[in-house]
Amino acid sequence: MQIATTVRHARAFFDVLPRPLGFVPTMGALHEGHLALVHRAREACASVAASVFVNPLQFGPGEDLEKYPRDPEADRAKLDAAGVDVLFLPAYEAMYPSHFSTYVDAGTIGTRYEGAMRPTHFRGVTTVVTKLLNVVRPEVMFLGQKDAQQTAVLRKMVADLDVPTRIEVVPTIREADGLAMSSRNLYLSHNERAAAPTLHGTLQALRTAMEGGKSKDEAIAEARTCLSPLAHLDYLDVVDANTFEPIEELAPPAFIIGAARFGATRLLDNLWLQ
Ligand code: PAF
Repeated sequence: MQIATTVRHARAFFDVLPRPLGFVPTMGALHEGHLALVHRAREACASVAASVFVNPLQFGPGEDLEKYPRDPEADRAKLDAAGVDVLFLPAYEAMYPSHFSTYVDAGTIGTRYEGAMRPTHFRGVTTVVTKLLNVVRPEVMFLGQKDAQQTAVLRKMVADLDVPTRIEVVPTIREADGLAMSSRNLYLSHNERAAAPTLHGTLQALRTAMEGGKSKDEAIAEARTCLSPLAHLDYLDVVDANTFEPIEELAPPAFIIGAARFGATRLLDNLWLQ
């Protein structure tokens, strides 16, 4: 695996890789969910690129930028073993030189749910992903379903801005007890970790109640009782998978989405109705 830390070096590597090139953007602290993206890219593409960059722009004031888990040695070893050809590992200055001042607006989807809770988050994501796509220039970008709203924001962005990259979404990888894999699971205390799978249980209960004929409001009221008393629910809803507008029926393509705080840790999860 070759490693590039500057835009110039990265372009020199990417320009000569056999095509199609698949790209997996990450913020590191890699787990099986990330590796599933690399495996899918390896299966579908002639070459695979990955990036590891903890993007300050997508963290709001008071969020977990400083304590976000970082394990660069382990990340490199995992990506190498998974068959990544080139790893882009930029320093902050390589991505945001002094006087950087241009941002990509995340549009209407980026104002809902996660966007309402974290007002600058999606602008940070769309800006960094635009930059990464301009450096890597992949035919396909692989994203995890766990961050469902991010996938919708980025699909809309590449369509609206005529970015010549196709997005493929790879299903969420879960722990044996149903908890969606996430780098932030590392923050959970013993008790919070034990309670965390109830978020997935809540989403499943909502689906079961609606499939059984309950209205969405009734189903939400019933499902939220499945969430651990340790958790604080930020939102629970059924949304159109493309627009993230709330919908009243389980009409695919849709997501059942939920976010909850377990102590200081916010976890997201969703069920994809395709
Ligand atoms: O999903 C993530 O890890 C990040 O939001 C991404 C897409 C790598 C952009 O920083």
